[in-house]
Amino acid sequence: MSYAIVTVNRPDKLNALNDRTMEELDAAFAGFAGDPATRGVILTGAGEKAFVAGADIGELSTQSPVEGKERSIRGQGILDRIENLGKPVIAAVNGFALGGGCELAMACHVRIASENARLGTPEVKLGIMCGYAGTQRLSRLVGKGRALEILLTGEMVDAAEAHRIGLVNKVVPRDKLLAEAESLLRKMLANGPLSLRFTLEAVNAGLEMPFAQAQYLEATLFGLICTTGDMKEGTQAFLEKRPPNFRGK
Ligand code: COA
Repeated sequence: MSYAIVTVNRPDKLNALNDRTMEELDAAFAGFAGDPATRGVILTGAGEKAFVAGADIGELSTQSPVEGKERSIRGQGILDRIENLGKPVIAAVNGFALGGGCELAMACHVRIASENARLGTPEVKLGIMCGYAGTQRLSRLVGKGRALEILLTGEMVDAAEAHRIGLVNKVVPRDKLLAEAESLLRKMLANGPLSLRFTLEAVNAGLEMPFAQAQYLEATLFGLICTTGDMKEGTQAFLEKRPPNFRGK
């Protein structure tokens, strides 16, 4: 069962996302999308202090309005690519996840945090605002009221509070973080790859549709999955009391 571990690696800048790092992330996830051997991804940050402490403020400080808009659209597209990978992506949040780092973690499907993690969107303290869909994903994850409190104060929440409001799924000691993320990903990857793909699609696309339309999408994907070998194999394996051997076909 093969999966990738992606580490944002600029620890001297708390893994801040400059344009080059964003391009590298984009290329990595484009590669995973086209590689059937990579069944899922864990995303984390290098060093002891940070997952990602935001977009690179040095680059942001000199941008023109047009460059700012383009950077925002580019970043949103990269995070969309992660969210729509069609394979599970888990953020292992090992410290500060701020601004673009919080937005990056929210584009992942599940977030596991270490006890020292602190999350937030401090952009307003810099006289800017979220530009990688943080206003939208945070509101959808924790609800409008809690999202606006975080977005408008720019204050960080600690791991326990992030867990309480549903911003992260689980909090574990720092030295257990990667093992916990791997264990969770392995549980997912034991299931049918097409089941995972279609479920991700139903949730991601369905949440943006009216309920009846989303139900119809779900029914259509359910019909599609009934055509697959994995459906035959999974149901047959249950009836024969043996583990399934899914092929993703
Ligand atoms: N962009 C660019 N550089 C950053 C950065 C960012 N988002 N976040 C941290 N860094 C750099 C610091 O400038 C510093 O670099 P230096 O050693 O060359 O001076 C280095 O990373 C270490 O950060 P430092 O501030 O010294 O660590 P700290 O432990 O005192 O504070 C934070 C940690 C996270 C509270 C603080 O770095 C911070 O507030 N960062 C910015 C967070 C932010 O506003 N993110 C949203 C950006 S849109």
